[in-house]
Order: sequence, then structure tokens, then C-alpha cells
Amino acid sequence: MTIDGATDLHPLAVVERPSFESAADPVTVVDLFAGCGGLTLGVAQAADHVGRGVDVRLAVEFDQVAADVYLANFPDARDVKVEDITTLFSSELDEPLTKTEKLLREKVGGLDVLVGGPPCQGHSNLNNHTRRDDPKNALYAIMARAARVLSPDVIVIENVPAVLNDKYKAMNAVSVVRERLAALGYEVSDRVVSLHELGVPQKRKRHVLLATRNDKKALEIFDSLPLETTGGVDLEWAIGDLVEQASNGPFDRAPTPSAENTKRMRYLLAEDEYDLPNHLRPKCHQGKHSYKSMYGRLRWKEPAQTITSGFGSIGQGRYMHPELPRALTPHEAARIQGFPDYFAFDKATTRSALATMIGNAVPPQLARQLLLGVLTSITND
Ligand SMILES: C[S@@+](CC[C@H](N)C(=O)[O-])C[C@H]1O[C@@H](n2cnc3c(N)ncnc32)[C@H](O)[C@@H]1O
Repeated sequence: MTIDGATDLHPLAVVERPSFESAADPVTVVDLFAGCGGLTLGVAQAADHVGRGVDVRLAVEFDQVAADVYLANFPDARDVKVEDITTLFSSELDEPLTKTEKLLREKVGGLDVLVGGPPCQGHSNLNNHTRRDDPKNALYAIMARAARVLSPDVIVIENVPAVLNDKYKAMNAVSVVRERLAALGYEVSDRVVSLHELGVPQKRKRHVLLATRNDKKALEIFDSLPLETTGGVDLEWAIGDLVEQASNGPFDRAPTPSAENTKRMRYLLAEDEYDLPNHLRPKCHQGKHSYKSMYGRLRWKEPAQTITSGFGSIGQGRYMHPELPRALTPHEAARIQGFPDYFAFDKATTRSALATMIGNAVPPQLARQLLLGVLTSITND
């Protein structure tokens, strides 16, 4: 498939999956809170770029559908556990290893890369009163415990920027994990990364903690980003070729909008406007409000707004298609999250499962760029 008549394959429109598992000298990976596998895909893409394969030793995800999608895309993964991570790893950082942890360590074996995107609802800015005590912050700390158990060479922990305000046992959760990893011998660095600068067609910012050892330099890797730009990554680049895509099942169909929302979208198209005027908003938004992007229409020549699980409803954010009276389809949202067409979401058969999984996913480009830095520095050693 080509875009704009170009002869090069558009990276998101590639339908043939690279054979990530067949190359020699595979990078071994464990993915915790794996979701559908955005972080694993990024590691696999980076490994492929330097001529190496990927060997998933363990993925853990307690949502059955997300785990099914993960396994469909990484069928050679040795172990995909559909379990609560707290049954596998303790969140206490210093206690002796449990029997389960010792067994996991043995089963996983020598590990190159540990990735994890602990759930971030606990860090939401909308949740100011409770976030300091939210038990989800203990899940962040589990990444340090997992590092102690599995002893990987490289650790990538992804989260929302607001994780920097979170507390674990009266201390800042990120600082606790940083200190713990440093005590285990890692060089640790963390920063808020703009995913658009890494080639993701979206205004998404993420907090990333990178820990390395064996002469790879976390700080230098951050400083060298982006290692490769895809160029011109606006919305048109990401989904412009999907305008005519037939609606074959939930993946390529936007939810049917309410009569009220259809009226709003027709107004924006007829007037060539991008923000809905107050008089067409629900009554509670008609005064002074800070919801400008809600009910908004996306622009072709800009990156999309952050994709959340609400991408199928214009009342949840700026999710209206630039030229059609509908919200985004899961296929379009997956593209905006950086998933190429070869990534199979068919195991998610309902709109809500697709919305949750795609909204939760980490754009593969993030792990791809970080790991390119790591693997290049290994190759150059
Ligand atoms: C931010 S998403 C991770 C996205 C994933 N890293 C990706 O790249 O697509 C967090 C995931 O953690 C899972 N999760 C949350 N709490 C969990 C727990 N206690 N045990 C296992 N999985 C959990 C959620 O179901 C969700 O899929």
C-alpha cells in the first residue's frame, strides 16, 4: 500500500508482520502490565532494526482480552500470564525473595530488557485528593522489585507525567524506584518525553524512567533522542489513507453518534469550524468552561490530541474526524497510537474492549527509540 502515490511503504500501512522471532541473537524481554503489547512491539522493532530477533520470556496482564491480543501478536512468547501482578511479585523492595519470585527468576533466565507501564489512573490530575494514597502507586514500585528478581540489563518504565507527584510510603514514588534501582547497580535517568518528537502523530507526553547497566548510559540515550525521525507525522500522515476504508466490523467503524452530536458535527463541517460554539454545547458547558477541545474537530495538518479510551465519542475530547461527521474508528486510533496495520486487534471483538486497549496502549515508537539507543550502544561497544 502506498500513500500519496509514493513508492515507499507507509510505515503504519504495512500489513506484513516482520518475522521478529526468527533473527539470531534475540533480545530477551519481560513485559509487565503488558496490555496489548505496545512496549514489546517497540522493543521488537528496535531489535529488528539492528538485525536481532526478540524472545518474550514473560508477559503479565490481568485483562483476558488484552492478553489474547498480546499473544496473537507475539505467538512465540514463552509465557503470557493472565494474572494480577501482585500475586507474582511483592511490592516490598527489601524483603527476601518469595518462592514464586525465585521460580520466576529461574524460568525467565538471563534477561536483557524489562519493560512496564503500570496503570496510571491513580495519577490522574482529576484525582488530586486521592492520588497520594492510591494503592496503584504500589504497582509502580513493583517494577523495582521485579528488577531485583529478574536482574535485567535495561529497564523502561512508562507512565503519565503526573506520576512525579505520586507518593509511595510517604515518599515520591519515582524517587523510591530510582533510589532502589541505583542501589541495585543501575544508572537511572527519567524525564517527560514528547511522543510527537519521537515520531508519534499525537500530542502525548509521557514520563519515562530508563535504567541501564553494563556500560550503557541512560542519560546519554535520553540526550540522543530522537534517534530517527519518521518526518511529517501529522494526522493526515497517520490516517489520511483510511478515509475510504470500508466498515468491516468494529475495528473500522466509529460508534453511531447521537442525533445531537451528529448535528454538532454537521455544523462544524458546514461552517468549516474546529471548536464547537457554546450555544451548541450541552447546557452545563454553555457558560465559561475549559473544555474547548471537547466536541472539537481534528485538523489534518496537526498531530492528534492524546488518544484515550474515549476516542469514539466527540463528547470526550477532540475526536471528530477532520472531514466526516463521525468520531475516530479504533483502526484510526490505533494508527495514531503508532500501531502498524500488521498488528492484529481481532481478538478484541467489542468496541469497548478495543477502546480500552488502544487508549491504554503505549505507542511502540517510545520503546523503539529508547531501545535503538541501547542496542546501538551495545553494538558499538
Ligand atoms: C497503561 S496499560 C499498559 C499498556 C501496555 N504497556 C502497552 O504498551 O500497550 C496498563 C495495563 O496494566 C493492566 N493491569 C493493571 N493492574 C494490573 C495488575 N495488578 N496486574 C496485571 N495487570 C494489571 C491493565 O489491564 C492495563 O492493560
